[in-house]
Amino acid sequence: MTDDARTAPRGVGVVVVAAGSGTRLGAGMPKAFVPLAGRPLLGWALDTVARVPGLRSVVVVAPSGLADTGAPAWAGVTLPEGAVVVPGGAERTDSVAAGLAALDPACDVVLVHDAARCLAPVAVFVRVVDAVRAGAAGVVPGVAVVDTVKTVDARGVVTGTPDRATLRAVQTPQGFRREVLEAAHAGGAGATDDAALVEQLGHDVLVVDGDPRSFKVTTVDDLAHAERLLAGA
Ligand code: C5P
Repeated sequence: MTDDARTAPRGVGVVVVAAGSGTRLGAGMPKAFVPLAGRPLLGWALDTVARVPGLRSVVVVAPSGLADTGAPAWAGVTLPEGAVVVPGGAERTDSVAAGLAALDPACDVVLVHDAARCLAPVAVFVRVVDAVRAGAAGVVPGVAVVDTVKTVDARGVVTGTPDRATLRAVQTPQGFRREVLEAAHAGGAGATDDAALVEQLGHDVLVVDGDPRSFKVTTVDDLAHAERLLAGA
């Protein structure tokens, strides 16, 4: 090991993206600030992020009109110590890039997490970090797909039926060696997750076990499901 490697900064940085509009939820406010059991989704997500072992830096990417943490919408959100808030962009990729740029340089592992996956358990964060530390360039949590999935053309005609056993529905937090994610964002755009950008660079991305509780709150039914989970029902 070189002297540089021995003294290289280590720590986990988490970018929590919370800048989406939440149009599909129809709550009249950005989704991450919609109340769940009386507190914004973002508050629940950050409670878990604060418990990630080895945590060094947290960046919350907020809607540009809500980047002031003194605003009433932030009531019920506890920022992890030292966390910073930056405004997001038009697309999720833009928001992740803004968060990445604000991350403490001492972080060598970066997790990107959707605030909308507000009940993702800390055990998933640990699995992802451990797999990156074990050498993976990129790691995503995934769950088996229960439906048969079809690919279709522009007319809706089926063009293929992938073998279901080879499919995974992927979630966040997604974890990366920092330099890999930075290179991916420097070159790519238009992907629905960060792993896709890393895949485009030719890196292997490993899937570890996700968790049903890491579902993304998208609709009113999802919000009701989250309320039931918190109530233990
Ligand atoms: O829109 P969707 O539900 O897929 O967004 C996933 C996550 O990305 C959410 O937590 C949302 O707040 C965030 N996002 C963002 N900036 C955008 C779009 C989405 O931070 N422009």
